[in-house]
Amino acid sequence: MKRQNLVVVGGGSTYTIGMIMSLVAEKEQFPLKSITFYDTNAERQEKIAKATEIILREKYPELDSFHYTTDKEEALSNADFVFVQIRTGGLAMREQDEQIPLRYEAVGQETCGPGGMAYGLRSIGDMIELVNDIRTYSPDAWILNYTNPAAIVAEALRREFPADKKLLNICDMPAAIMVSYAGILGKDVFDLVPEYFGLNHFGWFTKILDKEGNDHTNTIKRAITEDGFIPEDAEIANDPSWIHTFKQVERMVTDFPEYLPNTYLQYYLYPSQMVEKEDPSTTRARQVINGREKRVHTLADQIIEDGTTENVELEVDIHGRYMIRVAASMAYNNGDIFIVMVENNGTIANLPDDVMVEVPAMITNRGPKPFAVGHISTFYKGLIEGQLAYEKLVVDAFYENSYEKALQALTLNRTVVDAPRARQILDDMIEANKDYWPALHASKQVVTNQ
Ligand code: NAD
Ligand code: G6P
Ligand code: MN
Repeated sequence: MKRQNLVVVGGGSTYTIGMIMSLVAEKEQFPLKSITFYDTNAERQEKIAKATEIILREKYPELDSFHYTTDKEEALSNADFVFVQIRTGGLAMREQDEQIPLRYEAVGQETCGPGGMAYGLRSIGDMIELVNDIRTYSPDAWILNYTNPAAIVAEALRREFPADKKLLNICDMPAAIMVSYAGILGKDVFDLVPEYFGLNHFGWFTKILDKEGNDHTNTIKRAITEDGFIPEDAEIANDPSWIHTFKQVERMVTDFPEYLPNTYLQYYLYPSQMVEKEDPSTTRARQVINGREKRVHTLADQIIEDGTTENVELEVDIHGRYMIRVAASMAYNNGDIFIVMVENNGTIANLPDDVMVEVPAMITNRGPKPFAVGHISTFYKGLIEGQLAYEKLVVDAFYENSYEKALQALTLNRTVVDAPRARQILDDMIEANKDYWPALHASKQVVTNQ
């Protein structure tokens, strides 16, 4: 098996140590020659990298080299795979994205509604620059992107790089949900085969099969409505916010029993309830700063101080394993089936061709080969078309620096609906993001002065 040269962009991410542990666990499936970290924030990356050095020395002696750098050319040259996980504006801007809509009683969430729009308008420019840089230094590398809001980033990259066949956007949520299905069934998550359709953070499982073709869908639905639904993946199992989110699946399956929903549909189906439960002073960003970020940094500090991993507990999570299994299927043409984002092109028969959808695909060394979904029925089509229009308008707003398109996007979104409310949220967001969106800030002045 050829060993791969891997670059992790966003080396300082809170997910990097989990990713490294997954690479250790998956070394048979995805053997590595080298690992390189790249990040724009030297200090943030250094802490994670120094801990990683020790983890790799103890657990991955087969590796030829590990480097970390803030120099693009040095990092991105000679890569076979590039895993991308960046956050433009950091958790501080995420907090703004969540707090601003709540002022107007609209959902404040990282990837959904106004928060998703703001985060998208920050991420797109950096992602385009990054993909251009990767293509300059490693024209043939596979790029696997986790950066959010993945739906909006994927649509922008589709427009910007239409001919790039080695660029894939993925999300770990369907896989994390499947970990809980696997728990219900007493099976391994990678032994389950999903049928699924929708957009990122906006989709439904229509069937859950095993590799022998047995259908477990009704068993799962019954278990959810009768016994409840809990997160089981290590990263989220003990997190009160994720426990609450998984509980909402019970309600969604009761209200809409036809299919099994993605957890993120809670924001679109029950927006008022999602607003009511929020405390604006401790939205999810604050919980992550005091939770995952603190936990990861404390763990890294301890590994560095001890010079060994012997005194810490290191866990493997689905986030890392999922990305790595997808990469392995590309590298070695395994033909495994994973839910990924692809350009529709007829996969969902009654949606346009030129939109990004999230569906199961066979992952090969020629890229993802999606399975036909066929026609979807009115409820799902209606919901998806509204969301798609919002996503497209956000990307239009980015390219055109258009206040009007951004206002249209928010007005269309199910988490906002009222045009005056959309305008208030947009105006506050433009102010909060003026360093990131100078042109939109300027175009708002024009609109205001008319
Ligand atoms: P984080 O802020 O802890 O880490 C992101 C890192 O990226 C930081 O170290 C930052 O300095 C770095 N960075 C920012 N801009 C950069 C750039 N232009 N080039 C290189 N490095 C840059 O964030 P996190 O919570 O660990 O999340 C990382 C990303 O992964 C986010 O976009 C998050 O939304 C996404 N994510 C996606 C999924 C999914 O399902 N697709 C799952 C989990 C996380
Ligand atoms: C899920 C989603 C991601 C999201 C992540 C973290 O895994 O698929 O897109 O970024 O959760 O959310 P959190 O609120 O815990 O930072
Ligand atoms: Mn996701």
